[in-house]
Amino acid sequence: MHQPAITGTGVFTPSQIITNDELVVAFNAYVDLFNAEHADAIAAGDIPAKTHSNADFIFAASGIEQRYVLDKEGVLDPTRMFPRFRERADDEPSLMAEIAVKAATTALEQAGRTAGDVDAVICAASNMERAYPAMAVEIQQLLGIEGFAFDMNVACSSATFGIQQAADMIRSGSARSVLMVNPEITSGHLEWRDRDCHFIFGDVCTAVLIERAEDATGIRFDIVDTRLLTQFSSNIRNNNGFLRRTRPYGVEDRRDMQFMQEGRKVFKQVVPIVATLMTAHLADNGIAPEDLKRMWLHQANKSMNDLIGKKVMGREPTRDEQPNILQDYANTSSAGSIIAFSKHSDDFEPGDLGVICSFGAGYSVGSVIVRCAGA
Ligand code: COA
Repeated sequence: MHQPAITGTGVFTPSQIITNDELVVAFNAYVDLFNAEHADAIAAGDIPAKTHSNADFIFAASGIEQRYVLDKEGVLDPTRMFPRFRERADDEPSLMAEIAVKAATTALEQAGRTAGDVDAVICAASNMERAYPAMAVEIQQLLGIEGFAFDMNVACSSATFGIQQAADMIRSGSARSVLMVNPEITSGHLEWRDRDCHFIFGDVCTAVLIERAEDATGIRFDIVDTRLLTQFSSNIRNNNGFLRRTRPYGVEDRRDMQFMQEGRKVFKQVVPIVATLMTAHLADNGIAPEDLKRMWLHQANKSMNDLIGKKVMGREPTRDEQPNILQDYANTSSAGSIIAFSKHSDDFEPGDLGVICSFGAGYSVGSVIVRCAGA
């Protein structure tokens, strides 16, 4: 068995930012338009009036201050409320592939590698731009990688599940170097017209290179162990899919064709599942919580992370032990824990231990214990 190691990471961050204040101004303008347009039905009691959003609530409930998006104008247009992307020809790079190539290029550079060194590509994300061909195969082709590629979707846990697949391939020898990318265009499946969740998501792409430890040319993080768990729940759900047109009213503008969640239930149910899994995973590897230098958690909600951190450490973790990036990026689905890892791991010394942990729809939880092995 070969030792797998993370040898490079990359983050592609879109250039456009939406602050909470900007988001709320657009949302409230949409609400006013909606209520005026449906004044008679609202007065008759047929439909409820929509209610304004509030930037103070958003920050207090989530810890989010802003989000990056690929198209700000479409999202903030109160007569539209979703991004506007140019239709691309079939022989042009697709949008997911384009941002994946940007993040992947950074990861390869950091690892001191070129496309020729990579054997496989995994595109792990919470939504794919099309049904087929697989996004990963297009990314493979754009980068000039030989070998094989495939897509996988475990919603917000896609990246840690992807790391485990890559680590297993390295361990067994079926691949020597695996590029795992997480292009998350969450603005495409967020319902920006729903006050309960319109502030949650942002766009980004992350990339992680996983190689045999002995092949590393620079700083590497050995993958000590991985653990995955899934448990079915509809509390985070999106009903969009290829059978849509077969069903009555299937192609209408329906709320359930975008991200939906029972936020309170998710919060209450997922926190103990994650804390229990992380605690057992560390214990089974003979690692005490105080041995950890850092936890890079999924970035959905600050209070959720505070609570998980407290349960795992047995005390409140410091900001250094549990850094958040969600104040700047919002929830970027599977990419969140990888952004945190990428931006907060430069200070690791050989022997330092950390855990990358993501969680979300499914429910799903993925935990990856890493040890810095230096250069
Ligand atoms: N502006 C102002 N008020 C709002 C609002 C908004 N944008 N959205 C909701 N509210 C109101 C609600 O109507 C409710 O009012 P009420 O008490 O009068 O009924 C109140 O604020 C609380 O709403 P609630 O939805 O219960 O908020 P919350 O504290 O649970 O926070 C989330 C909402 C989504 C931030 C939180 O539940 C969460 O983060 N859950 C976990 C999400 C998660 O991790 N999902 C995984 C995806 S990977």
